[in-house]
Amino acid sequence: MSERLLEIKDLKVKYGNIEALHGISFHVDRGEIVTLIGANGAGKSTTLMSISRLPPPEAPKVVAGGIFYNGESLLGWTPDKIVSELHLILVPEGRHIFGNLTVEENLKLATYARKDTPQDIERDYQRVYSLFPRLAERRKQQSESLSGGEQQMLAVSRALMAGCTFIMLDEPSMGLAPLLMYDMFRALKELNKEGMTILLIEQNANLALKFADRGYVIDTGEIVAQGTSAELMEDPEVKKAYLGG
Ligand SMILES: Nc1ncnc2c1ncn2[C@@H]1O[C@H](COP(=O)(O)OP(=O)(O)OP(=O)(O)O)[C@@H](O)[C@H]1O
Ligand SMILES: [Mg+2]
Repeated sequence: MSERLLEIKDLKVKYGNIEALHGISFHVDRGEIVTLIGANGAGKSTTLMSISRLPPPEAPKVVAGGIFYNGESLLGWTPDKIVSELHLILVPEGRHIFGNLTVEENLKLATYARKDTPQDIERDYQRVYSLFPRLAERRKQQSESLSGGEQQMLAVSRALMAGCTFIMLDEPSMGLAPLLMYDMFRALKELNKEGMTILLIEQNANLALKFADRGYVIDTGEIVAQGTSAELMEDPEVKKAYLGG
């Protein structure tokens, strides 16, 4: 029996007077990899920012509908509590790491709100370094001098070090060379096998559907198609609009 972890119901959000999501509904069950695909400006980042409860003006205001995690409404929650108590985290577009700190310092800082044991934290350090050996080699390096792809790995690793069990990723493949992109998705798959639930947004629909169990297609603030990855890959409309024919 699958367990409903995240449920978005008829969600409408606005930036100022402009409605960016027009009543979208979708869900993610525990242990799943789900992807939201869509073109530039479709509302993918808006959806993730709404879930992580970032305050306006950067994020939109919820004007109708609901966001539920484990059956509980997230609307009254703050972003930091969502991370530290629900273990749900957003790795935003454009990374958000501390450039003037080393790799190791960035990872350490991510653990500050954890309530589990030093042994648990140590185990996660080892896990990060085995998933991303490049980061292990560069642990003393200033983060701003990492390549874009390595910074992306560090951003995902910070989510892991924060003790998260549900990770939302905003275009993790952005700016990555094919080889690094492959490393990144292999590491994410590994984490998923160990129990991490993943909500991934991607413009690269081919890549996303190969990786995910299920997906939703979002177009100008509405969900226009949904299904298993196999179903979406066979859908003629989806093929034409998002998969290059
Ligand atoms: N802070 C903001 N203020 C006003 N409008 C915004 C803001 N952020 C996004 N929007 C608008 O909301 C819509 C959805 O944007 P969003 O960033 O969610 O798209 P996206 O699907 O993530 O696109 P991309 O693939 O280009 O990242 C767009 O029309 C965008 O211009
Ligand atoms: Mg975006």
